[in-house]
Amino acid sequence: MVQNAAQKISVAIPRMPDADMVLPYLRRIDAARYYSNFGPLVREFEARIGAGYGVEPACVSSVASGTAALTLALRASAPTPGSLCMMPSWTFSATAHAAREAGLTPYFVEVARDSWALTPEIADAKMRHAPGEVGVVLPVAPFGAPIGYDRWDEFSAATGVPVVIDAAAAFDTAQPGRAPVVISLHATKVLGVGEGGLLISRDADLVAKVRSLSNFGFQHSRVAALPGINAKLSEYAAAVGLAALDAWPFVRTGYVRLAQTYAAALSAIPELSVLPGFGQGWAGTTCLVELADPVTSAVARDLTRAGIESRQWWGRGCHQQAAFAYYPSSSLAVTRYLANHTLALPFHLGLGPAELNRIVSVVADSLASSATAPLSQPRHQNDAAQAS
Ligand SMILES: Cc1ncc(COP(=O)(O)O)c(C=O)c1O
Repeated sequence: MVQNAAQKISVAIPRMPDADMVLPYLRRIDAARYYSNFGPLVREFEARIGAGYGVEPACVSSVASGTAALTLALRASAPTPGSLCMMPSWTFSATAHAAREAGLTPYFVEVARDSWALTPEIADAKMRHAPGEVGVVLPVAPFGAPIGYDRWDEFSAATGVPVVIDAAAAFDTAQPGRAPVVISLHATKVLGVGEGGLLISRDADLVAKVRSLSNFGFQHSRVAALPGINAKLSEYAAAVGLAALDAWPFVRTGYVRLAQTYAAALSAIPELSVLPGFGQGWAGTTCLVELADPVTSAVARDLTRAGIESRQWWGRGCHQQAAFAYYPSSSLAVTRYLANHTLALPFHLGLGPAELNRIVSVVADSLASSATAPLSQPRHQNDAAQAS
């Protein structure tokens, strides 16, 4: 992960607030001697987050990690125990782990070719042929890209099936409605506290339930009213979160500008396209490209030879991972295509014009030398059929 002076370019280098920015908040912890249990810093952090999304503080609950927030949101949505949790296979393993932890059966379905996301249309079609009762739907905002949040509330109202949205990387683009939205505060995200998560919903009762589940199931006393766990955010993590919010306008500008510059440079390569929406004014921490060639081809190898790290970020999809191999799935042609044709290029705030040029030229040379057809024509015609 460390970028050394000898030319290696790392695929990711997290950006967290400097110690000096956190210090005033740590001094407040010292003065208050309040270290956890929804202390003053956690409450202030949640209120500032709520204000940013235009919701009341009661609509926000901080949680110890994004995975824990997903697990508790699924449990709070009260699907039938053991029922199917419909989700894309094209996601990070945490999405499927959360479903399993919540006592549900992951059911892997397809994503749309043009957004890389599970859509209400796909969910609707897949529910008809599901191998059991679908208790809840868990769409994912891929790599923080904008998705139609309000359409999921409509889906839920029309079908009666609860929805929980995994917006782990979407701090900048999430639009919380009634369906709970889960955001990760892991160090690798645009707003990081180290480990942490947020659950946001306009349904304050559901948020209160998640808060109780994250605190031993306590509600108004130290008696467990619900079967909870301990998944609270500490005051120390909230201190980092408050400092990160102070720095957010500046950090956001950095990520937005980098993505715009990157997207412009990559647009000169015809055999490649970027994550849908990338470079269009929102902040994320990954640069995913879709290549006409399978990524197992020369590109990743040529990047490695040039000292440039790249990553197949979500591997071959969750359904291919040993922990989830026995769970049901639908046809996954688009997922397979994305797994084979997408690659993450280095993306972090330490990248300057020289590094960007180097990365883009290695990718361009590699693709040109393998003489692949431009991506623009086959995008909707090749083996990545539209999700059915
Ligand atoms: C799509 C997705 N879901 C869930 C998570 C889990 O978040 P956390 O690492 O905060 O538990 C991640 C983390 O990167 C993720 O990318």
